[in-house]
Amino acid sequence: MSEKLVLALFGSPRKSGPTGRLFDAFIEALPGGTQVRMFDAFSMKIAPCNGCGGCEKTGNCVLRDDMDEVYEAMEAADGFVIATPAYNLSFPAPLKAVVDRMQCYWSRRFSLGMRPPVEKPKVGALLLAAGSVEKSGADVLQRQTRMLMSVLHCRLTACVPFMGTDQADAAQREKAALLAAKQAGHTFFTSR
Ligand SMILES: Cc1cc2nc3c(=O)[nH]c(=O)nc-3n(C[C@H](O)[C@H](O)[C@H](O)COP(=O)(O)O)c2cc1C
Repeated sequence: MSEKLVLALFGSPRKSGPTGRLFDAFIEALPGGTQVRMFDAFSMKIAPCNGCGGCEKTGNCVLRDDMDEVYEAMEAADGFVIATPAYNLSFPAPLKAVVDRMQCYWSRRFSLGMRPPVEKPKVGALLLAAGSVEKSGADVLQRQTRMLMSVLHCRLTACVPFMGTDQADAAQREKAALLAAKQAGHTFFTSR
């Protein structure tokens, strides 16, 4: 199998929290030789989308910042993984800015009629940590991710939630969550 490239978006401000542990389990289980380009949303300089409409004319964002590297990786990647905690039922603000700046792919597809908006097909995964066992945050994140990936020529094949991270019995659920993340990494390029 030829070497695969994974674009990884990391959305937690903490490297070793529940999100980080899910992420590490997933990445370590990827097939040997897989290259990973990891983008840490909290350390990147990404301006928010200002809705200027420029991408509706060209298919590209008019803003120039760290997002350029993400756009470049998006064209080359075979896999796309988002690892994030739930913040107010959504992505933390820096990651939300990255997601909003992917509006140019939506514009390619729906304003400019480009099919596919990104040439290379991808498989996608969502790894999420939520403090509560209540499902709303996970549901919203999964819905947003599915919608985003649908304009990235990317099939969401795995969603690994680690729920109740802030509850007293979190450690008991962590084992199953890490195992699921590992399994998702292992089968990432073969899952349907
Ligand atoms: C600003 C903020 C908002 C949060 N909002 C939610 C939420 O809406 N739903 C939820 O289940 N947990 C929420 N949490 C809890 C985090 O999702 C939880 O602590 C998670 O495990 C953090 O992961 P991390 O330490 O890997 O970043 C929130 C935490 C913070 C700091």
